[in-house]
Amino acid sequence: MSSDAASSPTASATAHENPISLLAMAGSQRRRSFNRALLRAALERTPAGVRVREFDPSRLPFYDGDVEAAGDPEVVAEFKAAVHASDLVLLVTPEYNAGLPAVLKNAVDWGSRPPRPQAWDAKPVAIMGATPGRLGTALAQRSLRESLAGLNARVMPQPRILLAGAGKLFDEDLKLADEATLDRLAAFLDAAVAWARRFS
Ligand SMILES: Cc1cc2nc3c(=O)[nH]c(=O)nc-3n(C[C@H](O)[C@H](O)[C@H](O)COP(=O)(O)O)c2cc1C
Repeated sequence: MSSDAASSPTASATAHENPISLLAMAGSQRRRSFNRALLRAALERTPAGVRVREFDPSRLPFYDGDVEAAGDPEVVAEFKAAVHASDLVLLVTPEYNAGLPAVLKNAVDWGSRPPRPQAWDAKPVAIMGATPGRLGTALAQRSLRESLAGLNARVMPQPRILLAGAGKLFDEDLKLADEATLDRLAAFLDAAVAWARRFS
């Protein structure tokens, strides 16, 4: 993965547990993106025994059946393989016009395509999102959850991270600075890893 973080262990697994491979993606490429900042905060706090790989969904071309028919572009094949190889996918979504951003939906769509089983089938997924608005990306998360549920993904039902008023939660350097939110994030990550272990 040239432009993405290389696969790297964040901590060693405990003796009795296998490591969990986490594939992480944020749905904003904005330089001062709250969602990328939230993802960064999460990846700094992944529990022991989690190996992190990041993928930038904006590297994928827009889904096009003709492109697919000519054979998956290399980056698409790389993406599908990364989803298949992961034990858990963490998706961090902004909300655009009461839905999810095209770049994340596009990743869902490519992942849903052959070969079978498609990449989302039975895949444990955890979703979070941040917005300066008041609903914490609830509508975007619902939409993402619905698409993934239709693909037989195992989307963690609870807990949820819906960060409203994001402008007040991050400092000037976009560090997540709110203690209560940091505690909720740590609990969310623990729950997501436990969720993945139920199926691995
Ligand atoms: C086209 C567009 C539509 C938006 N629609 C919503 C919306 O429906 N709900 C919401 O909470 N925020 C909405 N926003 C504001 C985004 O939440 C805000 O720009 C956010 O910072 C984007 O995420 P990012 O910081 O990770 O880039 C919208 C922004 C744009 C550009």
